[in-house]
Amino acid sequence: MKIVLSGIRPTGHLHLGNYFGAVRNFVKLQDEYKCFYFIADYHSLTTHPKPEHLQENIRTVLSEYLACGLDPDKATIYIQSDVEEVAELYLLMNMNAYVGELERTTTFKEKVRKQPNNVNAGLLTYAVLMASDILIHHADYVPVGKDQEQHLEMTRRFARRFNNIYDVDYFKEPQPFNFFGKDLVKVPGLDGSGKMGKSEGNAINLTDEPEVIRKKVMKAVTDAGPKEPNSPMSEPIQNLFSILELVSTPDTVEHFRDEYNKATIRYVDLKRQLAEDIIKFTQPFREKYQQIYNDLDYLRKVRKMGKEKAKESASKTVKEVREIIGFKDF
Ligand code: ADP
Ligand code: TRP
Repeated sequence: MKIVLSGIRPTGHLHLGNYFGAVRNFVKLQDEYKCFYFIADYHSLTTHPKPEHLQENIRTVLSEYLACGLDPDKATIYIQSDVEEVAELYLLMNMNAYVGELERTTTFKEKVRKQPNNVNAGLLTYAVLMASDILIHHADYVPVGKDQEQHLEMTRRFARRFNNIYDVDYFKEPQPFNFFGKDLVKVPGLDGSGKMGKSEGNAINLTDEPEVIRKKVMKAVTDAGPKEPNSPMSEPIQNLFSILELVSTPDTVEHFRDEYNKATIRYVDLKRQLAEDIIKFTQPFREKYQQIYNDLDYLRKVRKMGKEKAKESASKTVKEVREIIGFKDF
């Protein structure tokens, strides 16, 4: 059976970008594939979180995974740092990753710009740790959003390089995967341009209360409005429509497109509808989340189950890699 794997860093609540870019794929795929879904807490150390925040965010994201419909009986759901084998594979893979190629990674260059006072080596080798996450379970498919495409390309390169250096056919080359369409998804933010993201401060979280959602949507950037019928659409308006397409019915989308094309649209109506449809879409999720978050016994049980299953597969890989590399008994 093909193997699916993905992870998300625990840096806060999941937002609509995380959901439509990644998590809804996780849910869909768990019925048909052998799936590994984890919380990338080692990765989140690159931004130096306080221990209590880290702990809290891990609990939050685990509860959110479960509230979204991930099923611990179908998929292996685990915390990255519970599987120390990942750290060993990361050490070994680092020996075959070149500083030049790591420095050229888009996400690394972005971080250098965003946190110039904390350009740590973990940021530089972020892609090596991500490759280790993926290769340790021999994943075939990795459901992620568009922003992670380059990391997957690097994972394939590291896999090929390892096979070449040791003259083996050991690691597979994992492919990005989107169950719902050909391309990977990029959900835009509400601030006119760019993607929705936690660090961008433009995200609507799955757990946001209705009033918060209304406020965020009503503040979304728009333009002066179409001057005449069939005017081209500016980026901020295209972005509102992109989100509308994800949460509203086709009829609603068509209605507002018509209004736009006739140049009779009132953005305030569009925003009101968008806010209500986001609220409706996220409601079941909000309710489940609170209940799961408060059930620590259940969360502990899920964590333990995932850890055991993930360790089994990870320790086998690390044992084999050690042998390939030449770490053997006399
Ligand atoms: P953030 O950018 O908010 O920090 P992460 O980098 O933790 O989010 O992303 C976790 C997962 O969600 C990744 O698979 C990523 O590709 C996906 N993702 C995040 N933001 C978006 C977005 N705006 N559109 C599509 N996918 C996204
Ligand atoms: N880099 C991913 C992100 O920021 C998180 C991640 C870490 C990941 N390891 C992974 C995603 C392995 C897929 C597979 O969203």
